[in-house]
Amino acid sequence: MYVCVCHAVTDRQIREAAQGGARTLKDLRRDLGVTRDCGRCASCARDCLQEANAGQNKPGKSLRKTA
Ligand code: FES
Repeated sequence: MYVCVCHAVTDRQIREAAQGGARTLKDLRRDLGVTRDCGRCASCARDCLQEANAGQNKPGKSLRKTA
């Protein structure tokens, strides 16, 4: 899924950036260009990065229960 349309950045690229050490939106802006133009991607990019970083902190399967 595209997160940043202006720079054609996907959620996959954001997860990869997180694995590479990106921790903040500023890191994503520097590495991938998100939020550099219209800025509409900021909220989604931040959420995606937080999910990716949370996943890295908890190795293995998610603890979230599924119904
Ligand atoms: S959608 Fe990311 S800067 Fe426009």
